[in-house]
Order: sequence, then C-alpha cells, then structure tokens
Amino acid sequence: MEKLIIEGGKPLYGTVRISGAKNAALPLIAATLLAEGIHTLNNVPDLRDTRTILRLLESLGITWERHGTTLRIDSTNLTYSEASYDLVKTMRASVLVLGPLLARLGKAKVSLPGGCAIGARPIDFHIKGFEQLGVTCRLEQGYVDAEIDGRMQGSTIFFDVPSVTGTENLLMGAALAQGTTIIKNAAREPEIGNLVDMLTVMGAEIEGRGTDRLTIHGVERLYASESEIIPDRIEAGTYLIAVAATGGEVTVTDCNPAHLPSLLDKLRVAGMEIKELGNTITLDATGRQKIKCVDIKTMPYPGYPTDLQAQFMALMAMSDGVSIVHETIFENRFMHVAELHRMGADIAIDGHMAVVKGVGRTGFYGAPVMATDLRASSSLVIAGLAAKGRTEISRIYHLERGYEQMVEKLTALGATVWKEQE
Ligand code: UD1
Repeated sequence: MEKLIIEGGKPLYGTVRISGAKNAALPLIAATLLAEGIHTLNNVPDLRDTRTILRLLESLGITWERHGTTLRIDSTNLTYSEASYDLVKTMRASVLVLGPLLARLGKAKVSLPGGCAIGARPIDFHIKGFEQLGVTCRLEQGYVDAEIDGRMQGSTIFFDVPSVTGTENLLMGAALAQGTTIIKNAAREPEIGNLVDMLTVMGAEIEGRGTDRLTIHGVERLYASESEIIPDRIEAGTYLIAVAATGGEVTVTDCNPAHLPSLLDKLRVAGMEIKELGNTITLDATGRQKIKCVDIKTMPYPGYPTDLQAQFMALMAMSDGVSIVHETIFENRFMHVAELHRMGADIAIDGHMAVVKGVGRTGFYGAPVMATDLRASSSLVIAGLAAKGRTEISRIYHLERGYEQMVEKLTALGATVWKEQE
C-alpha cells in the first residue's frame, strides 16, 4: 500500500487542468451496454473506479481499448449478466449495469453493495423502480436476481429522495422499454444531463433534461455512438478549496463554472476573489490572512454537493470563526473529523451537524493520518497542504478512486508532495 507525504505550508500558484468526471464516466460506460457496436467515449479519466467498471464490462464479455483519454468499447458480445460481489463491493456504482443488462438481455444478477464507510446506502429505489417497469426482482444470497420476459413496460416512478445512480439506472432501462416512463423527483446532477445527451445521440427519446421530471418514450433499439464526458466538478471544487486553504492564485481550466454554483458562492462569502471566464475559474487568495466562516448544508444539485463537504470542512477548520456543516445526504460522512483533529482542528459532531471552530490559517500542523473514503481523503490532502510541517496520509488508494494524477497536478502548482510505500 502507498501513503502520501506532504510538506505543507506553501501557497499554490499556476494552472491545473480538470479531468473528465468520474461520476459521469461510470454511467456513460455502463450505457454502452445498451447497444451493440463500437462506442467512443472522449475525455474519460483514468481512475481506479473507471478501471473497475471496465473490468466489470470485461466480465460480461465486452472488449475495450483506451487511446489517451478516448475509450472504444465494443459491446457486441454481451454474453453474461452477473456483476459479482468482488467488483460491486469495491465500487457501489457497479449497480449501474442493472438497467442496461435488463434492457438488453432481460436478466441481471447484481450483488447488493452492502455498507460502506459513508453509510448504509441501499439500492431499494433502483429495485422498486425496475419492479414498476415490470421486472421481477428476488433478493437471494446477497444478490438482486432480476428478470423480465420481453421488454420492460413504461410506468411512472417517484423517488422519495432524488437518487443520482437510481435516476441513471432507470433512465437506461426505460430508454428501451415499451411505452412511456416518467421519473418524478429525479436527481438533477449535471452528470445525469451528460447521460441524457449520450442516450439521445444513441436514439433515445427523453424530455425534461436538467429537471426533476424526466419523460422517456421507449424505443425498440439504440445505436452505438460517440460522446464526451463532462468535466469533473468535484475535482475542480477540490482544487479551488485547496487554494483557498493554502493561499496563492490558481486557475482551473477545462471545467464548467456553471456546475459549481453553490461552492463558488460559499468561497466568495469566505472572502475569496473568484473570476469565471469561459471554461476556467481563477481563485485568488494571495495575501489573505483570514478565511471567513460560512455555514454549509449538503443538498441534491444545485445545492451544496455532499462530495465537497469534507473538503470545505477542512477549510472552515482554518477559518476565523464558528461554522456549521450540515450533512443531509449520507448518515455517516464525518469520518474525516477524527483525522482533522490530529492536525489541530476543533470540530464537534452532533448527529448530522458538525460545529467547526476555526483555529485560523496557521493553526494546523502536519501529522500522520488515515484516509477513510474518497472525499474524506481529499480533505486530509487540503489540510496537509495548508499545515505547517509533514503530513503522512496512509491508505491513499481511496484518493486514486477519484482523482487523476493528483500528485503531478499538485506538484505543478508548487506543492511538495510525493508517494511512498507504507
Ligand atoms: C451518487 C454519487 C456520489 C454522491 C451521491 C450524492 C455516483 C457514481 N456517485 O451516489 O458520489 O455522493 O450521488 O450526490 O454518481 N438512497 C436510498 N435508496 C436508494 C438509493 C439512494 O435510500 O436506492 C439514499 C442514499 O442513502 C442517500 C440518498 O438516497 O441518502 C442519495 O443517494 P444517491 O443519490 O443514490 O447516491 P449514489 O447515486 O449512490
């Protein structure tokens, strides 16, 4: 296993290019199962999670090749319909093959994801939705065994809570169903818009893109196509928060500022100067000694993203006041708090809320800490970059699930950071 070493306390300067979005690449790769032929996906990040879903596709009989950031996936020989526990347990988003397998083969056996560091995260909405489309789902020995004779039947589906992968899974299934499906209270994350665009190019008929009501008129066939993965808003947000924490001035390029409405507003309130120009965002924190405190509450898009909660909490822990971080999406997403304490933070947790008493920009010091999940790990990186002295973060495989070339990108911004074997 590898650990990450950071010699902190240096401001960041320069330009960093944002990669394609992990959370868009995963559903778009799964969507290639819907139509035989050779699909082309551009701007695909090379991450542990994208490799996992490609291994899953291989296990179903699919072949693929990568040329730089372009993936060519040949979905012609879709032969198997089982997603095993070994793959699903390492990445919950493996459940995204359920809809395409049911649409193309009429059956799918997908392991239940089980618990993960940030909470129970069930897939009951996915299962209920497919049952409404006429699928028979049995839960046996840790697997969902799903089957339908013929095509799925259009229906109206309502989500109690907007689910991102739930919306994506049902969109893919409904695209090839007979008749019209309406998904009410659908999630509105930009990654879903990316999937709608890809399905539309493949021949699907979908109305309501970007809204919480998606209407899908099922078609008999979809066709292989070419699509582009949108920029990773969470990666962009992580670098912006890092610069706010360390000071300095950085431009993130190849991103979409419109996908980060809530974060940019919070960073401005925290006292940062931010310029949005085309597909770039520049954050200038030069000479700012103080970070103002600001509360956040995680919400479905366009609210503040839960995937940027841990990073913003690290920033608020260096502010000059008290802020409240309210996590409404996942029940156990404060694993980073105990690790941030080791670096000087003063944070008290009360249920879904954390009361963060800022210790000032210079109040953090380096320490050995442990990464617990993907976004918690990036909050430790931010804390380590801002802290005085050396931080060692173990179990950085979590980071590699979602951040492409983080060490190289941070080094180019002037950080002193490297990997070592544990
Ligand atoms: C996706 C993202 C993840 C992000 C999350 C919330 C991907 C690959 N992952 O995860 O990075 O943190 O959205 O923005 O895109 N729920 C149920 N039953 C279900 C499904 C969800 O109760 O069947 C609950 C969850 O426990 C959670 C809420 O609904 O409280 C939203 O979860 P959901 O949007 O489904 O998260 P994911 O799609 O797994």
